[in-house]
Amino acid sequence: MDFQKKIMITGGAGFIGSHLVRLLVNRYPSYAIINVDCLTYAGNLENLKDIESKENYFFEKKSICDYNEMEALFEKYQINSVIHLAAESHVDRSIHDPLAFIQTNVLGTTNLLLIAKKYWENSIHENRFYHISTDEVFGSLNETGYFTETTPYSPRSPYSASKASSDHLVNAFYHTYQLPTVISNCSNNYGPNQFPEKLIPLAIHNILHQKPLPVYGSGENVRDWLLVTEHVEAIDTIFHKGKIGETYNIGGNNEWKNIDLIKLICDLMDEKLGNKKGTSTQYITFVKDRSGHDLRYAIDCSKIKNELDWEPKIQFREGLSLTIDWYLNNPTWLKNVTSGEYLQYYQKQYAQ
Ligand code: NAD
Ligand code: DAU
Repeated sequence: MDFQKKIMITGGAGFIGSHLVRLLVNRYPSYAIINVDCLTYAGNLENLKDIESKENYFFEKKSICDYNEMEALFEKYQINSVIHLAAESHVDRSIHDPLAFIQTNVLGTTNLLLIAKKYWENSIHENRFYHISTDEVFGSLNETGYFTETTPYSPRSPYSASKASSDHLVNAFYHTYQLPTVISNCSNNYGPNQFPEKLIPLAIHNILHQKPLPVYGSGENVRDWLLVTEHVEAIDTIFHKGKIGETYNIGGNNEWKNIDLIKLICDLMDEKLGNKKGTSTQYITFVKDRSGHDLRYAIDCSKIKNELDWEPKIQFREGLSLTIDWYLNNPTWLKNVTSGEYLQYYQKQYAQ
């Protein structure tokens, strides 16, 4: 194929992956973007309708857990870079079924590392294995302090433990085999196309359907929120300018207690739906806390700002407002993903 780069994006039909695929396909017509996704409940090709007929876009419905299939794809497309997002990504599901997380996040990642090592060993091309990870690997903060790139790992859920394992393996392949790797650890993303098992789209969906808004514990837990389109800009920056063997933290400088965030969503929804202020807050329901619930995540992203000149720019209220508008304008997308498997998951998670 006559493309300048042949980039395998794993998990490209998911939330963050689909925004990344769109950005790269549109911005770099000289790159072949090969989206490899086995379409679990979280993968949705509807997310990519607008770019699916572009000449530099390719889709392969395959699992990263299948070594032979992955190797065949490296061969077929002459892959020279990987941006690896495919994962089981929801903490609550990891509490119900840890093994699925080990299989995809640890063993699937190891497959890709082994194949990249084998395939690029005598490569004359510039290669890069970019692993997308999470701030959850650092554990839980109290009221003060921030995660930096040197904060010791202390994962506390099966999800974060599986992501921490995959980060360690990526680093091991860099040190042991000189595989050209880079890692970024990002805080909580929000935005269009996020599956409504995660807090923000779940709240929007439930307000629309006049259902309870489940707040775990007392709602005092803090997360640092970043708009997904800003995260994928950071990924583009790190992919092109990040140093091999390095890790970069990405965050929104935007900490919110869950209960305050839910109230803000209620206010914005009331405004947009033409409801009297206070209408939606009646649905707030405090429920049993998440087991092992991390109190606070907060990212120090000065390294990426100082070294690569990336920082978040969009104000949270603006990002949240455009996110809500997207869900209000895409009722069919929301309806399609909240039938079938979602209903069973929802029942299991919230009917406790
Ligand atoms: P997501 O759950 O929306 O999407 C995951 C995608 O991976 C889906 O399309 C799914 O079909 C695919 N997938 C799962 N198992 C696969 C397999 N075996 N083979 C091929 N594809 C498979 O996840 P997301 O929120 O977009 O997160 C993407 C990545 O970013 C994950 O690695 C996650 O750990 C990381 N991350 C997420 C956030 C966040 O807030 N969502 C923050 C930091 C890092
Ligand atoms: O920090 C990055 C991580 O952010 C990513 O690595 C994960 O893939 C992503 O899912 C997200 O993890 P969280 O567990 O922080 O996200 P979630 O949306 O599930 O929950 C956000 C907060 O809201 C958390 O403190 C738990 C709480 N919560 C969540 C749900 C779904 C509730 O109070 N009620 C809920 O119903």
